[in-house]
Amino acid sequence: MSTSPNGSPRVAIVTGAARGIGAATALRLAQDGFAVAVLDLKEDDARGTVEAIEAAGGRALAVGADVGDAEQVQAAVDRIAAELGPPVVLVNNAGVTRDNMLFKMSDADWDVVMHVHLRGSFLMTRAAQKHMIDQKFGRIVNLSSTSALGNRGQANYATAKAGLQGFTKTLAIELGKFGVTANSIAPGFIQTEMTKATAERIGEEWESYVAKRAAAIPVARAGLPEDIAHTVSFLVSEGAGFVSGQVIYVAGGPRN
Ligand code: CAA
Repeated sequence: MSTSPNGSPRVAIVTGAARGIGAATALRLAQDGFAVAVLDLKEDDARGTVEAIEAAGGRALAVGADVGDAEQVQAAVDRIAAELGPPVVLVNNAGVTRDNMLFKMSDADWDVVMHVHLRGSFLMTRAAQKHMIDQKFGRIVNLSSTSALGNRGQANYATAKAGLQGFTKTLAIELGKFGVTANSIAPGFIQTEMTKATAERIGEEWESYVAKRAAAIPVARAGLPEDIAHTVSFLVSEGAGFVSGQVIYVAGGPRN
């Protein structure tokens, strides 16, 4: 059970938590005893995750916000603090892909990826950190990707995911003395709607796409959202207070 010194459950925000890695993380943190704000672009989309958490006996709140919009972010964090309590855990998971070769990548494809990943993580963190400083405890986890090491067709996404690693390290330096840690998780190939959409877009059958990707992974399987949720669970735990500014590749090997 993750409780604050006064015995009430700690509050976590997970962005992009309607589906995939975000949903699995929200469920896991609820199991760990957090009250979880399930944030996604549309509040309605977040309800499924909230229902799953409540069905398992946990506490959750569906919140709709565009993480790249400063006013919506402030309103969302204020509402979470009022309805659940001060958020002391933030998982910046919301993400989108707009893959294309550089010479064909549009301005809009570049901008939307920066908007969600970089501006989104910046705005969410700036709004939430105040509560962490007040509580003298905080845990920030930013979702990077193995694509940060470079990936054909992802000049925008790779840039954003590498940028999040620098963001994480700076947060760790600035916020450490207030009891706040910041770390990045860089997932490799994870079976989600996002990777399913990639297979569809490039005209590959899902099962054979997964098999092909798994064949290149040292642990010989594709990743699952729960693999990432488990790592988040560790990083936000009380006992992980001496782990900060790190990037953990959760990819079934060093770089897949
Ligand atoms: N100027 C002119 N021509 C160029 C050029 C340039 N600068 N660069 C390349 N070209 C040419 C190439 O020579 C090639 O020409 P030919 O067909 O005549 O040989 C052509 O442009 C490009 O051809 P492709 O068929 O390779 O490219 P495409 O446009 O069909 O798509 C791709 C390529 C965008 C990489 C596409 O295959 C793709 O989207 N792949 C998936 C990318 C991926 O792995 N995404 C990860 C998704 S999962 C995720 O994001 C989660 C995570 O965190 C890991």
